Amino acid sequence: MKDTLVETTLRTLHRDAKKDYMRIGKGVVKSIFRPIQPADFEHAYLPISREQGESMRELIVVNNCKNVVEFGTSFGISTIYLADAVRQTGGRVVTTELLASKVAKAKMNVHEAGLGDYVEFLEGDAMLTLKSHDQPIDFLFLDGWKDLYLPLFQLLEPLLHSGSLIYADNMNMAGTQPYADYILGREDQYSSLPVDNGKAYVSRAC
Ligand SMILES: C[S@@+](CC[C@H](N)C(=O)[O-])C[C@H]1O[C@@H](n2cnc3c(N)ncnc32)[C@H](O)[C@@H]1O
Repeated sequence: MKDTLVETTLRTLHRDAKKDYMRIGKGVVKSIFRPIQPADFEHAYLPISREQGESMRELIVVNNCKNVVEFGTSFGISTIYLADAVRQTGGRVVTTELLASKVAKAKMNVHEAGLGDYVEFLEGDAMLTLKSHDQPIDFLFLDGWKDLYLPLFQLLEPLLHSGSLIYADNMNMAGTQPYADYILGREDQYSSLPVDNGKAYVSRAC
């Protein structure tokens, strides 16, 4: 049965995120004369869709994943789906976000959904904040800066085990190509399936 607090919070956040096109426009203008930066989108959610959130929640519950790591919290929409799932499996989410203002807002949103006890927030560059992470990972969600998918994945790869799931969003973007080549090229180690019309991929470690 769906939790009312979670659903109400998600409804409000998804509704507000619909105004992202204005916030993204402002970010794109800032990056005309230099490479685009995460701070250009400080005010934008850039969230997963409801369908993606619900399918990750189901994947976590059905596979009884307990240790979940998220790359790219933003305002916490995806974190709420992940935390709602680990509440059911008895696990926890470690989520990472570069921008302090986004971490503060995500914490508020996750608490509002009643899920504060299930989430640890790591503030700063995930390449650094996850460097000392040493818990096995059952479910890894990649949704931060696209160029970092591969180095971050390789940093965490020793913590994966047979049956670990990796959900990578935005696999149709150029920045994620090195990660796509890596994971899709290792069929002996990972079986992968496109989801969400090829926008994302779910891989299972063999
Ligand atoms: C696409 S958004 C995440 C959206 C979120 N997963 C959701 O569905 O609600 C990507 C986020 O990754 C963050 N980010 C970018 N580079 C990062 C890094 N090196 N470490 C941690 N977070 C980073 C950005 O600031 C941005 O908020």
